[in-house]
Amino acid sequence: MPMKTIIEPFRIKVVEPIRMTTPQERALLLEQAGYNVFLLRSEDVLLDLLTDSGTSAMSAEQWAGIMRGDESYAGSPSYYRFEDAVKEVFGFEQVIPTHQGRAAERILFQTLCSPGDIVPSNTHFDTTRANTEAVGARPVDLPVPEGLRPSDPAPFKGNLDVDRLEALIEEEGADRIPLVMLTLTNNSGGGQPVSMANIQAVARVCRAHGIPLYMDACRFAENAYLIRLREEGYADRPVAEIAREIFSWADGCTMSAKKDGLANIGGFVATNDPELARKQRNMLILTEGFPTYGGLAGRDLEAIAIGLREVLHEDYLEYRLASVRYLGERIAAGGVPIVQPPGGHAIYIDAAAFLPHIPPLELPGQTLVAELYLEGGIRGVEVGTVMFGRRDPETGEESPASMELVRLALPRRVYTQSHVDFMVEAILDFAARKEAVGGYRFTYQADVLRHFTANFEPLYDLGV
Ligand code: F0G
Repeated sequence: MPMKTIIEPFRIKVVEPIRMTTPQERALLLEQAGYNVFLLRSEDVLLDLLTDSGTSAMSAEQWAGIMRGDESYAGSPSYYRFEDAVKEVFGFEQVIPTHQGRAAERILFQTLCSPGDIVPSNTHFDTTRANTEAVGARPVDLPVPEGLRPSDPAPFKGNLDVDRLEALIEEEGADRIPLVMLTLTNNSGGGQPVSMANIQAVARVCRAHGIPLYMDACRFAENAYLIRLREEGYADRPVAEIAREIFSWADGCTMSAKKDGLANIGGFVATNDPELARKQRNMLILTEGFPTYGGLAGRDLEAIAIGLREVLHEDYLEYRLASVRYLGERIAAGGVPIVQPPGGHAIYIDAAAFLPHIPPLELPGQTLVAELYLEGGIRGVEVGTVMFGRRDPETGEESPASMELVRLALPRRVYTQSHVDFMVEAILDFAARKEAVGGYRFTYQADVLRHFTANFEPLYDLGV
């Protein structure tokens, strides 16, 4: 039987209007925002692909859970439903709610790391890197070599390089490494998954040296489904079972429920170590809240408990991965270079390869982000020299990032196939006139995390 279209496995009960603007309006709005799309009002954006974090559409069941939320300060039934869901999906014994992922990271690193320690990872996300550094420890990224080659279609480019991990342990000593972390999927490396074989290999090295293994589990369901699609022996396994197998190799995890929790806020840290959990709960009380709410409302805990189970529905994951792949394959077929293969939550355009006439220090990713907004009211995010380049504080000299990417992250259950078709048309319309655009320069930048607040100036005539 011929394959039928993979459809959105839901119908729509509540709608939010989105508003088209004219190119002239967008040119003015962009200028007023200092050409930084973070500084636009979201009502002026037609299709918002800035992030998949906290932007999911909740289900009718989740909204029902919101009504059921019990707001007792201590011992709320909403907490126990949340704890049951985390235990069922992840299999860890100790569950500590937090207001979002980075709070879980802070608690984990502050209770496990000391100054001078080293924390290896496939690739630290910005907030895990910053939280590692905040306790005086050093984050070390050990991606496999193919993870740094955008056009390489290897299936598991999120893997950690096990040889380099062993060499690092040999060199520095296991007692300086309080944990190893695996980011599922590898967001900073293109949303690429980690294979079960790699998880097992990393876990074996960790066990041999008595080092705990933690997962940054933000996009665990997408990673589990990509294992099912791409790794031998998993094609017929229920994805919930694959997820349990992933976490059976770990000692604990941090989670931002704003991604694969299908919730708008929330997170947790989980572990099998009761002694560590006791310390973490004491720290939680200091800044987040009592251990049965951890900075969340009871209704948020309900939404997460339901979301963690819904995200493992096979028809949802089939649609989710198909829509990301559809966007990637359509623009790649039109000649737009993307990080291959399409990953779990986003398509990353290789702006350096797409706009080779713009040198890295003239910010080709920033050009692409600005042009996608001008072309179609689409908001993506630069992941290149604006975000990761460095400016010498003495000389003002800029050095570029290792890659010039633009991430188009798809919010979960929010946009339909015709929205994605519109994205494809806008990107390909821009591609047809890309030779005429030039670069950008900074007119203002902060010393840290400059991408959020920077202002820019185009080095060419926008022609609007
Ligand atoms: N880990 C990963 C892999 C992430 O992608 C994020 C957030 C976090 C941790 C932190 O979670 O935001 O709940 O504190 N990523 C968002 C993004 C911001 O746009 O990729 P949080």
